[in-house]
Amino acid sequence: MRNFCLIASLLLLFIIAANYNFSEASRLQACRPSGTITGKTPPPGKCNQENDSDCCKAGKKYKTYECSPSISSQTRATLTINSFEEGGDGGGPSECDDNYHSDSIPIVALSTGWYNGGSRCFNNITIRYNGRSVSAMVVDECDSTMGCDDDHDYQPPCPNTIVDGSKAVWEALGISDPDDVGSIDITWSED
Ligand SMILES: *[C@@H]1O[C@H](CO)[C@@H](O)[C@H](O)[C@H]1NC(C)=O
Ligand SMILES: *[C@@H]1O[C@H](CO)[C@@H](O)[C@H](O)[C@H]1NC(C)=O
Repeated sequence: MRNFCLIASLLLLFIIAANYNFSEASRLQACRPSGTITGKTPPPGKCNQENDSDCCKAGKKYKTYECSPSISSQTRATLTINSFEEGGDGGGPSECDDNYHSDSIPIVALSTGWYNGGSRCFNNITIRYNGRSVSAMVVDECDSTMGCDDDHDYQPPCPNTIVDGSKAVWEALGISDPDDVGSIDITWSED
């Protein structure tokens, strides 16, 4: 009986240690910045600020990410506003199809890690906020690895937990003045 107790406690210790190692390993695997870029002053006429877009500041360091947190049925993210139209604040055409899109349909760009090399292109995601939800199609990447250049309209790299939605996404969530609101905390999941 004494032996049994000893074995049982050793087993328990082993399980605790294994769990500890497991959580330690997942903590170490958590998404970390991949680098930093230093802001340059946008050339005259660059960085379209009509929708309060953030412009890179000379000398400021911006963290870059190749990863985003793992996706669940309630992935936490920050919803920001983007224009997917030509001449809008989104810079070039959408990454998924090299086209511009109407802001009056619910479409989104996802941070690089979630965009995952385009594997979610044209899939729909459900965005939830304050008891409301909207299904929106993924058409673009919000680049977390680069920024402060012409391709990104001299805006800083995207944080790695961004769902950048068209005006239609915001309207479906009950917000008609996204430019005044700026950003909100939402959850999203894959349809
Ligand atoms: C950006 O600003 C322009 C002019 O104020 C406005 O017409 C347009 O709807 C805005 N775009 C978005 C995506 O809110
Ligand atoms: C996403 O939703 C749109 C609009 O409802 C639909 O046309 C499209 O087929 C959906 N995409 C997928 C991959 O189901």
